[in-house]
Amino acid sequence: MNPLNHVAIIMDGNGRWGLKNAKSRNAGHKAGLKTVEKIIKQTIKQNIKYLTLYAFSTENWKRPKKEINYLFNILKNFLTNKIGDIYNQDIKLKIIGKKNFSKELNKLLKFSEKKTSKNKSLQINLALNYGSRSEIINAIKLITKNKEKINKKNISKYLQTRNIPDPEILIRTGNTKRLSNFLLWQVAYTEIFFEKKLWPDFNEKDYIKIIKKFKKIKRNFGKI
Ligand code: IPE
Ligand code: IPE
Ligand code: MG
Repeated sequence: MNPLNHVAIIMDGNGRWGLKNAKSRNAGHKAGLKTVEKIIKQTIKQNIKYLTLYAFSTENWKRPKKEINYLFNILKNFLTNKIGDIYNQDIKLKIIGKKNFSKELNKLLKFSEKKTSKNKSLQINLALNYGSRSEIINAIKLITKNKEKINKKNISKYLQTRNIPDPEILIRTGNTKRLSNFLLWQVAYTEIFFEKKLWPDFNEKDYIKIIKKFKKIKRNFGKI
């Protein structure tokens, strides 16, 4: 059985779900939040130590302002209401991506990270304004600045996922088979699961099914 420490998820399909079920993309984003909560609970149950969730890409700024504002509003409300619960569940929250949002949201994100920084059961990396290519460029810049060698170890060290193992599983919901600038370096040997269901329809059972399937895969890493 393969060990499992880190699951990464591209939570895609909210907009389509919203249009189909409530004639509004934003309704899908709201429904998607419920799935986030379910999946976090199940991750803890499964004793998985790291969960990385792609919530907003550097490219998502190209969306209409109304949708962007809605997304950050539900994030703000979620954190304001749930950070106590998150803390009590011994979850450490880390933001990956550049925190250049409104002053208020930046403050809330920093506060949430600081409040939960000593927690140990599960680390959630929330990818917000995240882009893998910028992350890699930034890592190389830091290596150069510190006059260190450009090698695999140092690149990993300067990524925002530093100190955590590469994900063993990447899930993308929403019936689309691409990576959309997510963890390009980190997924070099990750098992990738493309899921037809839209994110708000994805549930614990689907998640457990993927985990079970993963555990039995013969992972070669180039060997035979
Ligand atoms: C993913 O769902 C959530 C974000 C990118 C914020 P989408 O909003 O991309 O949903 P679809 O792919 O348009 O259905
Ligand atoms: C990827 O989904 C980003 C998130 C889930 C946050 P997108 O919906 O933005 O990806 P593309 O544009 O279809 O590739
Ligand atoms: Mg999408």
